[in-house]
Amino acid sequence: MADALEHERIASLLRTQRWGRNLVVLERTRSTNDVAKELGLRGAPEGTVVVADEQTAGRGRMGRRWVAPPGTCLLCSLLFRPSLPLSRVGWLTMLTTMAAADAVERLTGLRPGLKWPNDLVVRARGPAGEWKKLAGVLTETGLTGDRLDFVVVGIGINVNVPPDRLSELAPGATSLLAETGRRTDRAELLATFLAEVERRMEGLRNGDLPYAEWAARLVTTGRRVAVHTSTGVVTGTAEGVDEEGRLLVRAADGAVHRFLAGDVTLSQSE
Ligand code: BTN
Repeated sequence: MADALEHERIASLLRTQRWGRNLVVLERTRSTNDVAKELGLRGAPEGTVVVADEQTAGRGRMGRRWVAPPGTCLLCSLLFRPSLPLSRVGWLTMLTTMAAADAVERLTGLRPGLKWPNDLVVRARGPAGEWKKLAGVLTETGLTGDRLDFVVVGIGINVNVPPDRLSELAPGATSLLAETGRRTDRAELLATFLAEVERRMEGLRNGDLPYAEWAARLVTTGRRVAVHTSTGVVTGTAEGVDEEGRLLVRAADGAVHRFLAGDVTLSQSE
């Protein structure tokens, strides 16, 4: 692999105290989330990070596969041990998503939007201007009864996927390479991302809640949307989100629907 991720190089780039100091770098694995969950069960500390050049069974939300050509993407899972109630797990997802968006901006100048529930998107150039997906986040929890033992937040960022291989990914996907025309150093991106996660976790510990900033950065708010869930589709206007990250959609009959999970399609006219 031309620029495989290397433990030593990533470690040399880290600027963090905690995040990534317990670092697992794998050439190939089923899913970095599976490895991080396994480590979570075995008592690994908060700040443990698992990255891989290739996943053979990468998972997306809602039971989907997550496809990434080997050696081209940042496939990474973070282990949290928060003292938060289960209802606030969404805060970790919000925080991670914003950390990733800021790391992308710092390294490439692109400013990704956040699309509910936890996608990083960029607007296509030209008049059509549809949003294309740059990254996705999958959050999974380890529980004992109702108590949160650990949370794994996995992120896949399409970094150096060449434009002619984007069709292998989910429809509507893009990559940093396709958007900027330049390759991005994945190890540098990881180190920058982890520094942002650490800064934001410090903020959370000091009572700086991620919700308001996340809500303000969502590109979904105020738009006509169709929300696809496992039980059907609801269309309406996305009025905002609540503190736990649920999307509030006002349907044509005036009723407000709340969604904790689902996929949003933005109306073409906006
Ligand atoms: C989505 O948008 O559906 C979420 C995609 C999450 C993909 C990442 S890649 C690293 C981690 N390992 C996985 O199996 N999934 C997440």
